[in-house]
Amino acid sequence: MPTPARIHVAHALHEVFGEGGRVPDIWDRDLGEDAHLAQALLGLCLRRWGRLQAWVKPKLKDPDRGVPLGTRVVLAMGLTQLAWLPGVSDHAAVNESVDLAANRDLGFLPHKGLVNALLRRAAKDRAALAAELDALPAALDRSPAAERALLAALTPHHAKAELEALWTRLQQPPRPDFRLLRGEAPEGLLAEAGIPGCLCLQEGASFPRSWLESSGGIVQDRSSQALLAYAWDRPVTRILDACAAPGGKTTTLALRHAGAAITALEVQPKRAARLRQTLEQRGVEARVIQADAAEWLEGNEATFDLILLDAPCSGSGTLQKHPEWPWLKHDDLPRLAGLQRRLLTAATNRLAPGGLLIYAVCSWLPEECVSHREWLEHARRDLRPAEVWPAAMGSAQDAAGGVTAFFRPHPLRWTGEGFQGFAVRRD
Ligand SMILES: C[S@@+](CC[C@H](N)C(=O)[O-])C[C@H]1O[C@@H](n2cnc3c(N)ncnc32)[C@H](O)[C@@H]1O
Repeated sequence: MPTPARIHVAHALHEVFGEGGRVPDIWDRDLGEDAHLAQALLGLCLRRWGRLQAWVKPKLKDPDRGVPLGTRVVLAMGLTQLAWLPGVSDHAAVNESVDLAANRDLGFLPHKGLVNALLRRAAKDRAALAAELDALPAALDRSPAAERALLAALTPHHAKAELEALWTRLQQPPRPDFRLLRGEAPEGLLAEAGIPGCLCLQEGASFPRSWLESSGGIVQDRSSQALLAYAWDRPVTRILDACAAPGGKTTTLALRHAGAAITALEVQPKRAARLRQTLEQRGVEARVIQADAAEWLEGNEATFDLILLDAPCSGSGTLQKHPEWPWLKHDDLPRLAGLQRRLLTAATNRLAPGGLLIYAVCSWLPEECVSHREWLEHARRDLRPAEVWPAAMGSAQDAAGGVTAFFRPHPLRWTGEGFQGFAVRRD
């Protein structure tokens, strides 16, 4: 009987490669100690899927015949354990994979013998297996969607030639960053220069679980924190966070503009309920409204001095955290771009004179940010770019006088998530 960790990994791989679905953030929550093995195994299978499949193919009797997903999943898992997880014994890597192959939902019983034979042979020289897999081209692990996201990230910086280097960087499991909410930072967390409140985990330090549970701080990517470290000295008394759950940025806005009245909108009922609860726990005062932001704004006369539109997006900038991203369906982009435009139109209409609007997406794709910015430039003469970030947060062509109104840090000189954003002010 395979261990629960391996069964969870096999389910997650079926979800991604069978359904084009995402791996939920909490997929491994009931695995306890075994979560470490499961995370490493799933991460490696997703990150090296192309090479693993390419290694198997020539070893099949009829390489051009389609291989059932169950066989591909089980072989990828077995080979990954043998090649890159030295703590797993030969016996566990081979036998548990053979057991999985016999599982009606996760494997493919007629290929149990094939799985056994291939893995047993590979187990005879694990170092050679790792070397063979590592020598295959890294490009095999990239889908066309991933290739496009990488090019989009590098294009504004005239750095397309650095695609391999960027891909290599994104294959490293991400390190979490934190935002201090109150009190002192616990031992093991170091302040990030230039981003107030941003903390990073010192090499070898343990994860600050109890500090997070006591609401001393939150996990928040450094790109999100740098985005909200905008320079703005006009009075801010009414804030709108138009797409607010899970509330990380609402929290940061409340810290930055103490005393301002915050309205936080969220369309999904469950996420809105959780947002309300989270903000309460953190002691953040905000009016949480469950509504479609565009509809709510269109039916409302309220105006705001500061609007954050952290829009729903493809998530192409989160490749490092979500190694399944390259393999998702990606058929949703036109709908998302339309929704972003609708939200942006509604939000800009509610920006008070003298106010600031920040639009952001965790995506590198131009249709989710650059094209909205260009459209706004032509469509809205009452709005002007607001240079609220240091030049290093933009590309060379965006920066004027050491500042920029376009947030798109160089993906190789900046190690946060891939974020794009822009800031406009209303005259
Ligand atoms: C990128 S996330 C926001 C993350 C959040 N700002 C934070 O930092 O924690 C986008 C959120 O917008 C919500 N959303 C999607 N469409 C929306 C709409 N039409 N109106 C309001 N919220 C929407 C999603 O459910 C999701 O929670």
